Amino acid sequence: MNFGVAGVPGLTDEEFRSLRDYIYRRCGMYFEDSKKFYLEHKLGRRLKELGTRSFSQYYMQIQQAGGDESEIQEIFNTVTTTETCFYRNAPQMRAFQNKILPEAVEKKFSSGSRSLKIWSAGCATGEEPYTLAMLVLEEQSSFPVGLRVEILATDINRSAMSVAKRGVYSAESAQRLPEALRERYLIPHGDGYRVCGKVQDLVHFRFFNLANGTRYLSFGKMDIVFCRNVLIYFAEAARKKVFEDLSRVLDPGGFLFVGYSENALVMSSAFSLVHYKGRPVCYRIVREKGYSRRKIHH
Ligand SMILES: C[S@@+](CC[C@H](N)C(=O)[O-])C[C@H]1O[C@@H](n2cnc3c(N)ncnc32)[C@H](O)[C@@H]1O
Repeated sequence: MNFGVAGVPGLTDEEFRSLRDYIYRRCGMYFEDSKKFYLEHKLGRRLKELGTRSFSQYYMQIQQAGGDESEIQEIFNTVTTTETCFYRNAPQMRAFQNKILPEAVEKKFSSGSRSLKIWSAGCATGEEPYTLAMLVLEEQSSFPVGLRVEILATDINRSAMSVAKRGVYSAESAQRLPEALRERYLIPHGDGYRVCGKVQDLVHFRFFNLANGTRYLSFGKMDIVFCRNVLIYFAEAARKKVFEDLSRVLDPGGFLFVGYSENALVMSSAFSLVHYKGRPVCYRIVREKGYSRRKIHH
């Protein structure tokens, strides 16, 4: 018998397919055959903790758990990739601060609304929503009086979100953050930093599974959504569904930021590409009346 992780029998092809399909059904993430070792390694550690003798037994246990969601939560915590950092993808951050945010504020205010909603979907350990909060604070003095900005940050990995709520980070994760922002919004803490109170106050963390299409509108309509480096791990059908759901949750003319390898245009005709300083940075919803499907250059 092949032994994978210290004492736990190796993952057979059949077990791999069962577990991979189960994970796909629950959260949209899909492990190609080449990721079998990754899954074996990650879940093997969990089996060892539980004292479960084989992956088949583990699969049976989670199937039989019925309404008990605690083990699927363990799986989410274990198999998701939470790599992130402050100010990830600088051109997108500059476009957000200098173009998208002012435009969204102006649009909101002229429509009579006094509340602007930004969503970081798949926020991992929180560096993305906190960066957005810093940029909002940077621009706030130019906002019309009375405008309220809310940043919602969601994920399925609750361990990552505990880190996010604590707001304490290594020096490495803030390396790409411009010095001025680092000085204004991060407080030295041990070998790294702690996010200052006014940045933390702008961000609300919640659990949300993007593969759960029925609940998207529970947070209300959004003006700007960041869903970056999340859907690369999804199977195509699940990814397409999320783009469709995001297109519905966005306010008419709202903006969607994705990672550079996640092409929303290919996946959904609801979006059109937005350029800033000659490069594509995000998408704008075009499905609603008044927005044609064309490239927008700034
Ligand atoms: C690589 S991190 C990206 C973090 C951040 N958006 C960035 O670009 O730096 C991907 C995150 O997506 C989350 N994720 C994966 N599947 C998800 C799902 N079905 N619903 C919500 N979040 C999910 C993971 O838990 C992980 O924290």
